[in-house]
Amino acid sequence: MKNRIEWVGQNCRLLASIAEEFRQTRPFEGKTIGTGIHLEPKTVALILTLQEGGARMVSTGNLNTTQQSAVDYLAARGVTVIGGPTSDLEQHRRNLKEVIGHKPDLILDNGGDLFDLWLQDRYPGLLGGTEETTSGRMRLEPLREQLGLPILVINDSPIKQFAENEHAVGQSVLESYMRITNRVTNGQRVTVFGYGACGRGVAANMRGANAKVSVVDNDPLKRLQAHLDGYDTPPREVALGTADFIVTVTGSPRIIGEADINALKNGAILANAGHFPFEIDVESLRKSEQVSSIDSFEDGIETLVMTDGRRVHLVSEGHMFNLAGPRPLGNSIESMDLGFALQARSLEAVALGKATAADCVVPVPRDIDERVANAYLDLCYQGTIV
Ligand SMILES: NC(=O)c1ccc[n+]([C@@H]2O[C@H](COP(=O)([O-])OP(=O)(O)OC[C@H]3O[C@@H](n4cnc5c(N)ncnc54)[C@H](O)[C@@H]3O)[C@@H](O)[C@H]2O)c1
Repeated sequence: MKNRIEWVGQNCRLLASIAEEFRQTRPFEGKTIGTGIHLEPKTVALILTLQEGGARMVSTGNLNTTQQSAVDYLAARGVTVIGGPTSDLEQHRRNLKEVIGHKPDLILDNGGDLFDLWLQDRYPGLLGGTEETTSGRMRLEPLREQLGLPILVINDSPIKQFAENEHAVGQSVLESYMRITNRVTNGQRVTVFGYGACGRGVAANMRGANAKVSVVDNDPLKRLQAHLDGYDTPPREVALGTADFIVTVTGSPRIIGEADINALKNGAILANAGHFPFEIDVESLRKSEQVSSIDSFEDGIETLVMTDGRRVHLVSEGHMFNLAGPRPLGNSIESMDLGFALQARSLEAVALGKATAADCVVPVPRDIDERVANAYLDLCYQGTIV
C-alpha cells in the first residue's frame, strides 16, 4: 500500500510539473540548498522538487513539527537530513547551525533563523534565498543592510494570502472544529476575533456551515468590511456573551482571558487559530477564582467548571487548533502546493541571478505570482471544455 507522503506528492500537481521541468533545466546544478522548514509530507514534495533541479539538499525541521516518516523518506532519497523530531530548543539550534555548517549556496528559511545564523558566522558564496513567514520578514527587515542578498518573502504574495490564509485556514478550522469536538455548527452562534485574511476565511466557512457568525476586530475598517460582508459586528462583550463557539485568529496576545470569564455563556467552546498560543490566556482562565474544577477529555479538550455551575470548554490548550488534535492534516494539499510552487520559482530566480541584492526581504515578484497562477489554472482546466 502506498503511504500518505506518496498521496500528497501525487496531489502536489504544480510541484510535480515543476520537478519535470527542473529535470531538464537543472537550475540548481552543483548548488547546495539549506532548509529549515517543517518536515512533513507536503514539504517532502518541495524538497524533492528542488533536488530534481540539481540541488544537494541539506534539511532540518522546525521545533515540535518534524515527522519521523518524512525524515526517513527524505534520507532514503539522498537528502541530508539533520536531526529528527524534537521539542528541545537547544537541540533545534544545533541542528540549524549544522545546516549553515554545510555552507549552502541558497537558503529556504522559515522564521529567519538560518539567515540570522549566517549573519553571525558569514561564509562567502551565499546567493540569497527565500523566507516563508511574516514573522521571519519582520525579523529580517531591520537586517536588510547587513544581509545585502536577494531574499524573497513567500507570505507576502497575494496568492499565499488568499489561497492559504483565507481559503485553506477557513476550511481547516471548520474541519478541525468538527474533528476535535464533533459538535454541530448549524444554528450555533460563532464569534470570530480578527477579520484579517484568516478570519475572513473562518467566518465564511462557519457561515457556510449554517452558523450565525459575529466578528470582533479592533480595526474599524475591518469591522466595516465584516458588516458589509453580512456579519454581525456587535460590541465585544455582546459577541463574547452570546457565542457558542469563539475562535481567535488575530496574531495578538491575550484576546480572551480571566477578565472575560463572567461574560462567557454556559457551554461556550474556545479555540485559537492564530500562530502563537497566547491569544487565549489559558493559564489565567485555569487559575481564575471562578473555576472550581477542571475536567480533561481525550484529544485536547478541557472543561472549566465554574463555581456558578457554568462550563466553558478549551480546545488544544490555546495552540493553533487546526494543526492539533487527533490526526491533524493541516491546510489542504492544493493550498500548500501553490505556496511551495512560489518557493521553487523564487529559489530558481535567485539561483539564476534574476533577483538582485536590491530585492532583499521583498515580496515574490509579480511575474512569479502570475506564472504560478496560470500554471494552477491550466492544470485545473486540462482536458475540460470551458
Ligand atoms: N492556523 C493556521 O493554519 C494559520 C495559517 C496562516 C496564518 N495563521 C496565523 O493567523 C493569525 C492571523 O493571520 P492573518 O493573516 O489573518 O493576519 P492579519 O494581520 O491579516 O489579520 C489579523 C486581524 O486581527 C485584528 N486584530 C489584531 N489585534 C486584535 C485585537 N486585540 N482584537 C481584535 N482584533 C484584533 C487585526 O485588526 C486584523 O484585522 C496570525 O497569527 C497568523 O500567523 C494561522
